[in-house]
This record gives sequence, structure tokens and C-alpha cells, in this order.
Amino acid sequence: MTGMTQGSRTLDGKIAVVMGAGGGVGRTTAERFAEEGARVVAADINLEAVKETVRAIEAAGETGLAVACDVSREDDVAAAIAAAVDQFGRIDIIFNNVGIPTPRLGTILEDHTAEDFQRLVAVNFGGVFNGCKQAVLQFKRQGGGGVILNTGSVAGLVAWGGSVYGATKGAVHQLTRAVAIEGAPFNIRANAICPASMPFTGFFTAGGLPDGDEARAQAAKQAAANHPLGRAITAQDCAEAAVYLVSDRAANITGVLLPIDGGYVAR
Ligand SMILES: NC(=O)c1ccc[n+]([C@@H]2O[C@H](COP(=O)([O-])OP(=O)(O)OC[C@H]3O[C@@H](n4cnc5c(N)ncnc54)[C@H](O)[C@@H]3O)[C@@H](O)[C@H]2O)c1
Repeated sequence: MTGMTQGSRTLDGKIAVVMGAGGGVGRTTAERFAEEGARVVAADINLEAVKETVRAIEAAGETGLAVACDVSREDDVAAAIAAAVDQFGRIDIIFNNVGIPTPRLGTILEDHTAEDFQRLVAVNFGGVFNGCKQAVLQFKRQGGGGVILNTGSVAGLVAWGGSVYGATKGAVHQLTRAVAIEGAPFNIRANAICPASMPFTGFFTAGGLPDGDEARAQAAKQAAANHPLGRAITAQDCAEAAVYLVSDRAANITGVLLPIDGGYVAR
């Protein structure tokens, strides 16, 4: 879809900040938001990766801005939002999507070092805290409300994917609900998507799983066996839910933790 259809798209006129837009769910969602008419500030700790995302957005005839941002640093998050406001005048949407996996995938509770614990909490929980806080401050400065979408996980709903990782995602879920309630009087909505296993993003290799088609095919097979619908989850599955939840079509939906899991937690 190109600018030709402007005026009828789901996110026309919106300014969206997407954290972790350098790959996986973040990149796919940033591109979908742009395709739906949003101007997108694509932020990531990996500036080169996020520049690539913006090149793809611009190649499709849409508007994006690449920003370097480590979400565990509140100053970085505040600066990313300030860059969006400088460039586009305000923000309407923030997608706090960054999450890092359990280091050395399969690590059990007692094998987490203090540094492992601190990094998981600082990025997965701290990053969402920083994003929610700085977005709420900006929404209140500009007035009129705003939309927050966080990425949780089925790992925050059932025990899966690592004890500390899962606990950080449970914290993201609880923060989402609290922000939804605190924000409601200001027309600030907050929801979360909770994906299950996505072997085709960068996440598995970030967790130490071997890269390559064979390893991913094996992980996808295992995911398919675990999910009642029989398929691994994709970044596209998450992006479609994200477009809806941040759009005005979901104007009366807040505090929701939406599993994107092929029925995994319903079992
Ligand atoms: N892949 C899965 O199986 C799975 C399952 C459930 C939930 N999730 C969650 O989905 C979200 C997206 O994961 P993904 O699968 O797309 O992973 P990914 O590794 O492909 O993408 C993560 C992105 O975040 C960036 N990033 C990492 N640390 C950062 C930091 N400190 N500051 C800013 N950016 C940083 C990376 O550079 C990368 O571009 C995460 O929150 C993850 O926890 C993933």
C-alpha cells in the first residue's frame, strides 16, 4: 500500500515510536504501522539495524526516523521520544517491544548469575517501565491521550521460557494493567501482546541457540507441536494484533494481555 491511499488507512496521521525496531517483531511492526499511515520513529540499541528498517519504510513511500536507544537507560528513552516530538510535533503511540532472552537458553533458576538477573530485569522490565513512564509524561504534556502497547510473553502467563525471563514478563503484564488504570482518566490506553514461540526472529540466536535454517526448522517443529493451531508464531502475527490494538478501532480496549500463541495458554 502506498501514500496514494492516504486518508483511509488505519493509522493515518499517527506518530508511533517503536522500540526494538531493528529486527524481529519490532521491525515487522514498524513497517506495518508505516504501511497503515503512521510516521514511525524506529529505535533500537543497534543503530545500523534500525536505519535498515527506515530504509525499507522509505522505500515503500512512507516516513520513518531511525534513533539509537538502549531502553534500559531512561535518558535514551526520553531522548528517543524527544526526537520524535522534534521531528513530528508529538507522539500518539509507543510500542515497548524490547526483550532479551534467558542467556544460554535453558538456564535454570540457580544458574543465573547476578549479572544475568540484573540485565534481564533492566532491559525487559526496566525498558518497559522507562517507555511507559516517558510516554505518559509526553502524553500528559501534549494532552489528548495516547496509546501504549507492550510486548509481554506467554512466559509471563505460564512457566515457560525461563524463570527470570518469565518473571520479567509477568512484571510487564502487571505494569501494563496498572498503567491502563492510572492512564484511563487521561485517555491513555495500555495493552500488551503475549507471544509464544517465534523461532524466526533474532530472539533464539540472541539466547544462544545455533543460527541456521536447520536449527530454526527444528525449533519451529517443536513450537508447532506445542501450539494447538499447529504452527509457530511469526512476527507478522504480532504486527497484525499490534496494528489493531494501537488503532482507534480499539479505542475502548485497555488493560488487555492478548496471547498471540495459537491457543497455547488455553490448553
Ligand atoms: N521470539 C520469541 O520466541 C518470543 C516469544 C515471546 C515473547 N517474545 C518477545 O517479543 C519481543 C520481540 O522479540 P523478537 O523475537 O522480535 O526478538 P529479536 O531479538 O529479533 O528483536 C529484538 C530487538 O531488540 C533490540 N534490543 C535488544 N536489547 C535492546 C536494548 N537494550 N535497547 C533497545 N533495543 C534492544 C535488538 O537489537 C533487536 O533488534 C521481545 O520482548 C521478546 O521478549 C519473543
